[in-house]
Amino acid sequence: MTSLTIVHPDDWHIHLRDGAALNRTVNDVATWARRAVVMPNLSPPVKTVADATSYHKRIMNALTDGVQFEPLITLYLTDSTSEQDILDAAASDIVCGVKLYPAGATTNSAAGVTALDSLKPTLAAMEASDLPLLIHGEVTDPEVDVFDRERLFIERTLAPLSEAFPQLRIILEHITTADAVDFVNGAREGIAATITPQHLLYDRNDMLVGGIRPHLFCLPILKRRDHKEALRKAATSGNPRFFIGTDSAPHTRETKETDCGCAGCYSAHAAIPLYAEVFEEENALDRLEGFTSLFGADFYQRPRNQGTMTLIREETSVPNELTFGDSVVVPLRAGASVRWRVGARS
Ligand code: NCD
Ligand code: ZN
Repeated sequence: MTSLTIVHPDDWHIHLRDGAALNRTVNDVATWARRAVVMPNLSPPVKTVADATSYHKRIMNALTDGVQFEPLITLYLTDSTSEQDILDAAASDIVCGVKLYPAGATTNSAAGVTALDSLKPTLAAMEASDLPLLIHGEVTDPEVDVFDRERLFIERTLAPLSEAFPQLRIILEHITTADAVDFVNGAREGIAATITPQHLLYDRNDMLVGGIRPHLFCLPILKRRDHKEALRKAATSGNPRFFIGTDSAPHTRETKETDCGCAGCYSAHAAIPLYAEVFEEENALDRLEGFTSLFGADFYQRPRNQGTMTLIREETSVPNELTFGDSVVVPLRAGASVRWRVGARS
C-alpha cells in the first residue's frame, strides 16, 4: 500500500506547555489533529474554568492563522477541587474532563491528589454531570518498584474507584502493561484507555541496552517486551475502548540530558506516521482509522471529524532537534526516519 486515506485524526492526550513553547507544540499537533485533549500540568496547574479559558486563549494565539484546530482543556484535580468547580467545568465548552495525577507520580504533579477518599463528593459530581475522569495510573508508594506502579494502581485504586462510581466515565491514560489491557478489556461500560506511540514501538531494552537513551524516558516508564506486544494487540484489535493519546510531552534537550533527567517524549511532529508503522507491522492498517479518528470522539461523545487525511508511504527523515522556545527538543526518531508522512487533508 502506498497511501491510505482516513477520517481526520484527533489526539486525546497531549502536553502543549505554555509561553514560547506553544509556537512549536500547537503548530506541530495542528498539522495532523483537528482536536487535542490538553493536559493541565502547567506550573501553576490549570485548576478552574477561568484558568482553562485563559490557557485556551494562549493556545489559540499561538496557532497559525487559518489552521483549523480545537484544544479541549482538562482541569487538574487537587485535594481542594470542589463540587462547584465540577459544575462549572461541566457547563463549559472549553473543558472536556478532569485529570487525576497522584501527587508525585510524574512531571508537575506536586499539586496532585494525596487522598482520593476525601474527594468522594467531587467525584460524585463528575459522575452526575457526566464529566470524564482522566487518570495517570501509577501508585507513588516509594516501596513499589517503578515497573510495578501501574499494575498496583489498577489493583489498589482504579478497580475500587470504577465500582464506587459506576457511571463515571474513566480514561486510563497512556497504558503500558498487559495488566492494564486486561483490566480495560474486562471492565464495565464507560472505561477506556489511551496508548502512546512510544509504548507501541519501544520497550525497556530500547531505552537501556547499550547505553541510556534519555529521550525514550517517559512515565509510566517503558516496560518489558511482552507488555509492548499486549499493547500492540489491543491497539490494533479494533476494540473501541483503546484509542490514540500521544502523551507528546516536550522537555528541552538540557533537561533530559542531565544527571536527573525529566520524563516525557516528544512525538507531535510525527505521531500519525509512528502509529501507522505499528499498524502496518501488525497487518492492521485497515484498523488505524478507528484508533486515530473514531473511537476517541465516540468515547468523549463528540462528533466524528468531517474531513479526511491521506497518509503516504514514503521514508521521511526526522531532524536531530527542533526549536523549542529559546532551546531545542529532541523528538522521537531524531536523526533517523519514519516510514510514512502526512499528505493531503480536507
Ligand atoms: C509528562 C510531562 O512531561 O508533562 N511526562 C511523561 O513522561 N509522560 C507527564 C505525564 O503525562 O506523566
Ligand atoms: Zn501525559
